[in-house]
Amino acid sequence: MESLDRYIRQQASQDMRRVMARVFVAVSADHPDRILGYYTLSAATVSAGDLPPDMTQRLPKYPVPAALVGRLAVDRTAARRGLGSLLLADAVKKTMLAAQTVAMTVIAVDPIDDAARRFYEAFGFRSLLGPERRMFLALPTLKRDSLEG
Ligand SMILES: CC(C)(COP(=O)(O)OP(=O)(O)OC[C@H]1O[C@@H](n2cnc3c(N)ncnc32)[C@H](O)[C@@H]1OP(=O)(O)O)[C@@H](O)C(=O)NCCC(=O)NCCS
Repeated sequence: MESLDRYIRQQASQDMRRVMARVFVAVSADHPDRILGYYTLSAATVSAGDLPPDMTQRLPKYPVPAALVGRLAVDRTAARRGLGSLLLADAVKKTMLAAQTVAMTVIAVDPIDDAARRFYEAFGFRSLLGPERRMFLALPTLKRDSLEG
């Protein structure tokens, strides 16, 4: 997908320099200079009113602290081999570890198209109620020990 290629070539280093996003990449073992996939993580908030009622019953009406996977992409040559799932699992794991220190209730994603929506839905992500196409997953509260290593 061209916009995602352009992001890693042109914008990722700027986002990192300005601390707008952390960028994590997966590289090929044989060619470590070759990026096969990547994702970004940033701090964000979600409006409590955009979450479904089953979640907001137990939350105050303030913005809800979140981690945002702003972009996640896999190179066409590596598609449908589980790398996207691995990257998403890594983003969730990193967020859960960070949430031990900085409170976060949900992880949000911005799917680029309907295929990406289906990808996230398979992992339990649900649509937010607002006008954006953003989706979210409630973070389970796990003990720190179960995440390390
Ligand atoms: C969406 C994307 C990240 C998936 O990466 P991937 O490495 O191919 O995904 P996986 O191999 O881990 O696939 C896991 C499951 O997701 C679903 N899935 C993946 N791509 C899909 C697609 N294009 N359409 C429908 N379902 C899809 C399937 O259920 C798949 O399981 P299966 O292969 O056993 O059927 C990748 O296609 C991509 O980078 N797309 C372009 C950019 C993009 O859409 N990014 C996402 C949001 S910015």
